[in-house]
Amino acid sequence: MATKRISIHGEWSSRWAFVLAATGSAVGLGNIWKFPYITGENGGGAFVLVYLMCIAIIGIPIMMAEIMLGRRGRQSPINTMHTLAIEAGHNPHWMWLGWLGVVAGFLILSYYSVIAGWALAYVFRTASGTFTNVTPDGVGSIFSTFLADPESLMFWHTLFMVMTMLVVARGVNGGLEKAVKFLMPALFVILLVLLGFAMSSGEFNQGLSFLFNPDFSKINANGVLIAMGHAFFTLSLGMGAIMVYGSYLPENASIARTTFMIAAADTTVALIAGMVIFPIVFANNLEPGSGPGLIFQTLPLAFGHMPGGLFFGTLFFILLTFAAWSSSISLIEPAVAWLVENHNMDRMKASVVMGISCWLFGLLTVFSFNIWSDYAPLSMFERFREKTLFDLLDYLTANIMLPLGGLLIAVFSVWLMSGEASRDELGMGEGPSYLLWRFLVRYITPVAVIIVFLRAIEVI
Ligand code: PHE
Repeated sequence: MATKRISIHGEWSSRWAFVLAATGSAVGLGNIWKFPYITGENGGGAFVLVYLMCIAIIGIPIMMAEIMLGRRGRQSPINTMHTLAIEAGHNPHWMWLGWLGVVAGFLILSYYSVIAGWALAYVFRTASGTFTNVTPDGVGSIFSTFLADPESLMFWHTLFMVMTMLVVARGVNGGLEKAVKFLMPALFVILLVLLGFAMSSGEFNQGLSFLFNPDFSKINANGVLIAMGHAFFTLSLGMGAIMVYGSYLPENASIARTTFMIAAADTTVALIAGMVIFPIVFANNLEPGSGPGLIFQTLPLAFGHMPGGLFFGTLFFILLTFAAWSSSISLIEPAVAWLVENHNMDRMKASVVMGISCWLFGLLTVFSFNIWSDYAPLSMFERFREKTLFDLLDYLTANIMLPLGGLLIAVFSVWLMSGEASRDELGMGEGPSYLLWRFLVRYITPVAVIIVFLRAIEVI
């Protein structure tokens, strides 16, 4: 057995700290903002079912593989892949897989920060009573006026990016670990309060049937690709975030058990968010497929009409901001860890460099909602006809880069890395669970990802 490596960046204080941090990474805008709106755009039930299947047979095994590689390598994903490839007697160019992740994380954070900025802005709007007794049209026009103003989007984007970099600069055990400990449970409780509201004053049954009654005529190959991409996105997979968190995982923690906890928490939050949003959508005759603004057009209505709405609404957007915060730090951690390792920078400097570059890139998203809202760079392709820069960034990262990263992670961890190494790191012995994992990662994941890719580009 190879001697165990030690991370130069530190270690989580316990298995629980890791579960919380990884859950903090997984649960974010993806669950509460993105899942409902892409479900709405892709017709509901069938999409949800495909997404759940992807979580179970692709997401969970890949998460285990990513944590395993991270803990084995104990460095940034780039250096981890380099080290593990050499250790397994393969080409060190596998480090490019780490690079793919670093670039994906950078691109995602550039738009993630803009959307998290919306949540931040809505904290103050809700608190100041903007939504009290407002009509559906009123909420809609408040949102579109907000988006039309690049300066205000830029202001909130800046604030959120600064918040992210402050935590990243403080490192693994500072701030972050402490914050997620009570934020995640609080977010969960407030979602349950909202669920109560949706049950009592929304079209609850219609909402449920939209979410859980699959109608396969409503989903096409591109919808399946989006569902699969979202499984990666929501679990923070395929780009090294979970790998780098795994590199700080104490030696004795069970990877399988922690993975199940993270995936279960993440899926529950997404499903509850859906059960909150759609009853409100139907009760107010809103359009389920109205896109990225969906939660900003539905939830303020709920808060504007429920008792204690000012309080719960403000709290909700605060918690959403926190959920986004604990995800955004993991998006940039692989890049920061690499700068520290290879460029001899301290965390502070590395965070500032990444923060500024990512902020600048984020302006593409800011302008996608106003001055460039009619600019569709790939309009010559039918599928991308109306896609703005933001839409394209989202499509490229979530639907292409993350599944591709996941596919390569799968190939590396079971085809190239020795069985002895993976068994040792996963610590499950040779029992049926290990064999099942190996089977899924060896055959099912790669084949599923490749088929979905090929179907989506209409090759098969
Ligand atoms: N999982 C996060 C969310 O659902 C987003 C994310 C993607 C974070 C990839 C890290 C890596 O919001």
